Amino acid sequence: MRRSLVVGNWKMNGTLASAEMLAKGIIAGLGASDADIAVCVPYVYLPRVSEVVKGSQLGLGSQNIADKSSGAFTGEISASMLKEFDCQYALVGHSERRSYYGDTNESVAARYCQAQEQNITPILCVGETLEQRELDQTFQVINEQLDAVINLAGISSFNKAVIAYEPVWAIGTGKTASDEQAQEVHHYIRQYIAAKDQTIADKIQILYGGSAKPENAQGLFAMPDIDGGLIGGASLDAESFLKIFHSI
Ligand code: PGA
Repeated sequence: MRRSLVVGNWKMNGTLASAEMLAKGIIAGLGASDADIAVCVPYVYLPRVSEVVKGSQLGLGSQNIADKSSGAFTGEISASMLKEFDCQYALVGHSERRSYYGDTNESVAARYCQAQEQNITPILCVGETLEQRELDQTFQVINEQLDAVINLAGISSFNKAVIAYEPVWAIGTGKTASDEQAQEVHHYIRQYIAAKDQTIADKIQILYGGSAKPENAQGLFAMPDIDGGLIGGASLDAESFLKIFHSI
């Protein structure tokens, strides 16, 4: 049985005070659960939020990670720096990074490796744009995004990684993939990995992301290959994030 996982992606939102309040609000409502939960917070809020989550079930992650280990790379934050603040997870290749900041499949693969070198679990985000979906290129795009990582890190690296399928057309648009649309791609991803290593495919957590909210989470999470969610907008409110978490 795979463990379920729900991850909040706060993106570039909030203040130090609201970040602290949100983390405390989530912790207060966790209750007893077999599923895992984490939040990926803006870098500058990591020190404070890492204090807040200490000793709780709420895990901590970053929204990006440098593709190099140290040196003259102005503006970047390394894996070892993130480790100092107890980051367990790092998003890599979020579509906003790919489309606005030029992250390529290759640089995403390098970021993924940097995370693993510090024992931080990379959450590898993959997904197609609307145009690619309409051109029937969804699976090809996903293959290329996965292959870049497999070529650099090897299939066995997925022993300690999470994949998030996030159709770009569903992110922040209010347009969620239907349960079946999401399941189809999740199943495809698992089969793609199974062709190389069945044991890893059975074990790897594949999260859905893209306008997931309390109203649609239960249906998505009931799909056999959907192991949880990567939640943007709805993770900025403790109550709605907790509702999603408890619907797993
Ligand atoms: P959304 O974002 O839930 O606001 O669509 C998801 C994500 O970008 O990870």
